[in-house]
Amino acid sequence: MITTIGVIGAGTMGSGIAQVAAQGGFDTLLLDINDDMLQKAKAGIQKNLQFLLDKQKITAAEKEIIFNRIRFINDIKDCIAEVIIEAIVEKPEAKIDLFNKLAQVNNNTTIFASNTSSLSISSIQSGIPCPARVVGMHFFNPAPLMKLVEVVQGDQTSDEVTQTIYALCKQLHKTPVLCKDAPGFIVNRVARHYYLEAMKLVEQGNASFENVDAIMEASGFKMGPFKLMDLIGMDVNLAVSQSVYEAFNKEERFKPSPLQIDKVAKNELGKKTGKGFYDYKN
Ligand code: NAI
Repeated sequence: MITTIGVIGAGTMGSGIAQVAAQGGFDTLLLDINDDMLQKAKAGIQKNLQFLLDKQKITAAEKEIIFNRIRFINDIKDCIAEVIIEAIVEKPEAKIDLFNKLAQVNNNTTIFASNTSSLSISSIQSGIPCPARVVGMHFFNPAPLMKLVEVVQGDQTSDEVTQTIYALCKQLHKTPVLCKDAPGFIVNRVARHYYLEAMKLVEQGNASFENVDAIMEASGFKMGPFKLMDLIGMDVNLAVSQSVYEAFNKEERFKPSPLQIDKVAKNELGKKTGKGFYDYKN
C-alpha cells in the first residue's frame, strides 16, 4: 500500500508534484539539494493553496492539513517512501546516480518514477540494480492543474509496477495515458514542432515572437509557443530538444534552434529567472 510519496527536486515540476501528492492525501517528502529552492517551493505551495482557499475550493482547515502533509528535506537518507518521483535536471547520469543512492536507503519494493520529458526510461533503468521498479511518470506544467500524466513503461519495467503507477495517477485525480518508451513519448514529440517552427519564423524575420503568440492564442491554443517555453524553462526545453534530436539521429526537423541555445547561454531561462522571451521582473 502506498502511504508516502517522495519527490526529488523542488523546482518548477517537483514543487507542483509534491502539492498534487499532498492534495491526494499522501504523506509527502520533498527533497532538494538547494535550500533556497526548498524555501521557494514552500512559499509557492502556500500561495497555490491560498488561491484554492480564496476560490473556496478548499477550506482553511484543509489547507493546513494539505500543507502539513509535506516534509521539506535535504538529506537523501530521510527520503524513504513507497513511490519516489524524481524531477531533477534532465541528465541521464544525474537521474541514474540519484536512483542508485535512493535504492540503497529504501526497501526492495520502492518504485522509482522519473518525470523525465524526453530521456529513455529503458536507458535510465539499465543503470540501476532494480530496473523492474523504474518507470516513467511524466506530469505536465503546472502539475497541480494539468490532468495528463504519461506513464512510460521501459523495456524492463514490470507490468505490476506500471499498473500501480497508473492506478496512483487516478488516486491523484490525474488522467494517465500509457506510453511506449519512444523519443519524446507522445506529447513532447508532437509539441516539438510547435516550438521549433515558431522559433524558425522568428529567426527568419517573418514574425515577432509576440505576434506568433498572439496569433496562436487567437486560433485557440491556450498559450503561444514563446509564453509556453518561458513557463517550461528554456534550459529544460533545450534539453528536451537536444535529446529528441539525438534520438532521431539528428534529423534536421528536430534540430534545436539557435534562439533557444542563445537564451540558455544568457541564462534567460524564462519565468524562473525573471526573463526569457518576455520580462517577468516588476
Ligand atoms: P528545475 O530546474 O525547475 O528544478 C530542478 C530542481 O532539481 C532544482 O531545484 C535543483 O536544485 C534540483 N536538483 C538537481 N539535482 C538534484 C539532486 N541530485 N538531488 C536533489 N535535487 C536536485 O527543473 P524542472 O523544470 O522542474 O524539471 C525537472 C524535470 O522535470 C526534468 O527532468 C524535466 O525534463 C521534467 N519536466 C519539466 C517540465 C517543465 O515544464 N519544466 C514538464 C515536464 C517534465
